[in-house]
Amino acid sequence: MTTLPATLLYTPGKLKILDQTVLPFETNYLTATTVQDVYDAIRKLQVRGAPAIGLAGGYGLALSVGQTYQNVEEAKQQLRVDAAYLITARPTAVNLATIVNAIVAVAHNATTLSDLRSVVENEIKRLHEADVTQGYAIGEHALQVLGTKRKVMTICNAGAIATAKYGTALAPFHLGKERGIDFSVVACETRPLLQGARLTVWELQQAGIDVTLITDNMAAYALATQQIEAVIVGADRIAQNGDTANKIGTLGLAIVAKAYGIPFYIAAPSTTFDFTCATGDDIEIEQRATEEVTTVLGKAIAAPTTSVLNPAFDVTPAAYITAIITEKGVLQAPYTTSIKQFEEELV
Ligand code: MRU
Repeated sequence: MTTLPATLLYTPGKLKILDQTVLPFETNYLTATTVQDVYDAIRKLQVRGAPAIGLAGGYGLALSVGQTYQNVEEAKQQLRVDAAYLITARPTAVNLATIVNAIVAVAHNATTLSDLRSVVENEIKRLHEADVTQGYAIGEHALQVLGTKRKVMTICNAGAIATAKYGTALAPFHLGKERGIDFSVVACETRPLLQGARLTVWELQQAGIDVTLITDNMAAYALATQQIEAVIVGADRIAQNGDTANKIGTLGLAIVAKAYGIPFYIAAPSTTFDFTCATGDDIEIEQRATEEVTTVLGKAIAAPTTSVLNPAFDVTPAAYITAIITEKGVLQAPYTTSIKQFEEELV
């Protein structure tokens, strides 16, 4: 796969975060040395995408235990406080809570400060490597599912920079490129923050993958007229019944895809499933600042006092989802059954 800048680079005491708010115009890293730095980077979407914010949160805890403490119990107490705080940075993507809680759990039995630091670092490094493997496996399964389909629509950025390496929805395109399979990707720009235009288009261009940018309000036209053969998107949280939260705009794509008989796929790792969440109604949707809607790249497009609705995500009901592509295989309806089996296989 073409080498893209790493999403996260950790050395003890320092987490370098690829600043996704300035891409594609600048390739900058910010340096986080405290939990607050990591929290702020997640909130501002300097690091974004469900798997990447989970990993960033985990590294935030490595920074937490690396601070100066009198003894291990004090460090463990602060770790729990920092974990609870980091989880509040963004509420919808469950990966953040999953990884942060996993790290708190492994830290529980540490008996010395150096033991605590090494178990936390080893666990987040293990989870980081697992995300690379999961992305690759999702790509393999997605290639199988897509079969001979080559013209595919996506929204937001569920790619390499939203994860540790291959991405989820974009993984089949990266793997396909390595194998001489040429996809044509139609990328929705993804207002308000333009993750499609700024990040997906850039990522696919860097990888030499054909990509066509559309504004979000062209999606129905494109699905109706442009011979698009599939839609594939990422996910922020998948409920027990298959209802899936993903970037705002996903629901509209799913409805239109169904109307035109175009398959609609979710690509996500096991860390994006919330096995405690019964349906999409239980998923908290992050509401973001009004300025994100009244401005574009910092330039005002509406009066600052304009009343605004700015949900970062929507929930696609399971009935619109053709299949959910995971690292373990492809889940199909009825999702309550297939997701239950998937959960049991993970244990
Ligand atoms: O607000 P963002 O940019 O973090 O939203 C990201 C998405 O909605 C992605 O599709 C999802 O997190 C999956 S990333 C592999």
